[in-house]
Amino acid sequence: MTAVWKDSRVSGIATTRINPRWIDEESPRVVIDDIAARPSLHPHIITFANEKGGVGKSTLAFHVAIALAHAGARVVAIDLDRRQRTLERGLTYRNGTASNLGIALPTPQFGVLDHPSTAAIYQTINRLGADADFVILDAAGADSPVFRRVVALADTLVTPVNASFLDLELLGRVNPISGVPEHTGCFGQTVSELREEKFSREMGRIEWVVVKNRVRASEKRHINRVDDALERLAISHDFRIGQGLSERVAFRELFQFGLTHLDLPLIPDMIRPQASSPDEVAALIEDLGLKIEPRASLPLPTRPAARVLKRTRTDFRAALNAAV
Ligand SMILES: Nc1ncnc2c1ncn2[C@@H]1O[C@H](COP(=O)(O)OP(=O)(O)OP(=O)(O)O)[C@@H](O)[C@H]1O
Ligand SMILES: [Mg+2]
Repeated sequence: MTAVWKDSRVSGIATTRINPRWIDEESPRVVIDDIAARPSLHPHIITFANEKGGVGKSTLAFHVAIALAHAGARVVAIDLDRRQRTLERGLTYRNGTASNLGIALPTPQFGVLDHPSTAAIYQTINRLGADADFVILDAAGADSPVFRRVVALADTLVTPVNASFLDLELLGRVNPISGVPEHTGCFGQTVSELREEKFSREMGRIEWVVVKNRVRASEKRHINRVDDALERLAISHDFRIGQGLSERVAFRELFQFGLTHLDLPLIPDMIRPQASSPDEVAALIEDLGLKIEPRASLPLPTRPAARVLKRTRTDFRAALNAAV
């Protein structure tokens, strides 16, 4: 079957042409065929994806992975951005911090996909924990055949957006005068097609949650207008809206140590976090609507303190306190 779509953007007259995006490996049918041909995966898959770069996919993936580990779930986190490796780096720093301080921190099993392919995704999940409760997939911020497969694999798809109409247009354009959604954006179209194809084959529903990130209280009037547009798009594109994280320097600072605000109470003699930061992460988990069944018997990894000078440990703590 030839895929066609309507385009009236240029002349206002609807024209029909071949959708250039529906080719070979990227066609929704081929993407879903690829997944259907493989054994089904046990863990709940949470994919963080948006074709827009720099919106906070890795930051949110990192926080959600750690929050789920704190909640007692068994979590696997896979970084699909083999160049930036943000998620992998954050979790590596986390192990370094635990070791430097001689403390135990709930930490996901993690890895990076050096050679992205569907087979590699399945192999990595099976190697790191086929029996995990959750697999977190942090996609790179650009369309590709592998990008489409990790979107298609999602039970829950999380798309962070900044409060910018420019970002929203990748989901869809809302007419600024009438407030009516007019065009589906490139990422919105990809998600719609994959959801439809997956659902029609009775392979489950992709629950799509669009989460605002880096929200600044000072931009209230602008945010209200972005919220209105997002609500319109939520109806036309069938996604839920998550409140997301506000703009906080501490989210960036703590990354150097692989920590989140949820970890600070586990560190002896640490400054206590502002209550609202852990609350935001808890609200984010709530908005994702995940079913978390804590594994009571799950032991925290014991990490013997690294052999470091007392002075080094004191300096480490001082730098950490300065970051909170
Ligand atoms: N809530 C937040 N508060 C403050 N800074 C944030 C927040 N979320 C993300 N950032 C910062 O924004 C930048 C981009 O974030 P991040 O790397 O998570 O985005 P990304 O979508 O994964 O980017 P890419 O598309 O390049 O993979 C980083 O400098 C990060 O520290
Ligand atoms: Mg990233």
